Amino acid sequence: MRGQFVGLEGTLHRRGLRKRRTMANLPGYRRPYPGTQPNHLHPPYVSSIKRSPSLPLVYLPHTLSEVTGPVFDSSLVDPKACDLTRQHHGEPLGERIIVSGRVLDENGRPVPETLIEVWQANAAGRYFHKVDQHNGPLDPNFTGCGHTLTDANGHYRFITIRPGEYPWKNHYNAWRPAHIHFSLFGPAFATRLVTQMYFPGDPLLPYDPIFNCTADEKARNRLISTLDWEFTMHEHALGYRFDIILSGRHATPWEK
Ligand SMILES: [Fe+2]
Repeated sequence: MRGQFVGLEGTLHRRGLRKRRTMANLPGYRRPYPGTQPNHLHPPYVSSIKRSPSLPLVYLPHTLSEVTGPVFDSSLVDPKACDLTRQHHGEPLGERIIVSGRVLDENGRPVPETLIEVWQANAAGRYFHKVDQHNGPLDPNFTGCGHTLTDANGHYRFITIRPGEYPWKNHYNAWRPAHIHFSLFGPAFATRLVTQMYFPGDPLLPYDPIFNCTADEKARNRLISTLDWEFTMHEHALGYRFDIILSGRHATPWEK
């Protein structure tokens, strides 16, 4: 069977990935409702001015290339990578938190065994990356990257440090609200999602051009996690729920 796949498909198979759907099972994915995803052009977010397309978009139907995608075997995933507080010799500084939730499809069904990757700043708002020259201190015990697979019921769970707010160069005195970057593959290339999770009650949210790229308030607020006692651990860490919907009417917005 492997010999039938060439190019990208062949690469996926050689890496232990496989196709989930076939030509005989080719449902398209529902498109997002107007306003529920970020506008390509949102002038307060200055980078969107150069990035946004200048011509009308071309409608592309979902074909085999969009409704199939890689499936990630658990053997490819480091089971310890979901705990960002245990990647070095010591404990990182800051407030330990649990971030957990479910990944769902457009019909509310759980998406099992899908890869979730996260990256974030440390408690001082500094990324462990050469491009980040913010003068907040680095933490030798915190890299800020992790990954995991959802379980059979679509659940995932990370242990990490609450990220700090940080300044950026979008405009004078611009500060990003605390956030964690998420990347998900889902069952197909059309369900690929890169987004950011925010924290409830953050006073910077009304001023953040990236958060406010999505016009629909309900859709925008799906990016805000909720404090959840089910995930909170006694005398150890607060828990935040962040459920993610990969497509359809209630899809989680992309980051712009
Ligand atoms: Fe960020």
